[in-house]
Amino acid sequence: MTQTLSRRRFVKLTAAATALFTAGGKAQLGYAPSLTYPAVKVANVAQVKTGQPIIFNYPDASAPAILVKLGKPAIGGVGSGRDIVAFSALCTHMGCPVQYEGGRFICRCHYSMFDPAKAGQTYQGLASSWLPQIPLRIDGKGDIYAVAVAGLIWGRVKNV
Ligand code: FES
Repeated sequence: MTQTLSRRRFVKLTAAATALFTAGGKAQLGYAPSLTYPAVKVANVAQVKTGQPIIFNYPDASAPAILVKLGKPAIGGVGSGRDIVAFSALCTHMGCPVQYEGGRFICRCHYSMFDPAKAGQTYQGLASSWLPQIPLRIDGKGDIYAVAVAGLIWGRVKNV
């Protein structure tokens, strides 16, 4: 038995597939607005020096993270130079700690590298997922707050 797809049915299916794809894309990137993240003060802009990372934990005590001022504009960067960013410090390959060095994040377990200016894009090594970025907000006093996680922190089924 052969069935033909009516134009109306085709449009409905296409719309449903588009909605599903869009929702899936958001989930994969970790932009889950239904999650309630805490706002945690990390530092003040006066304390942040170019190329000198600040270690903190976010969104809880078992989630190491790194804030760094890159000295050049970055995707999601805050501050007057749009160059202050933060990321999970756990490599997306097998969870080893990453270190900021020479303008990039490096995992020394298997030498994956991530670009902090490009939202944590992986560009070398075994890691196939980008390093989860931690969106930041600055208040009127220059205090920098971590406010969410864009991506799934390694080893977790949910961030919060
Ligand atoms: S754990 Fe980082 S590259 Fe393997």
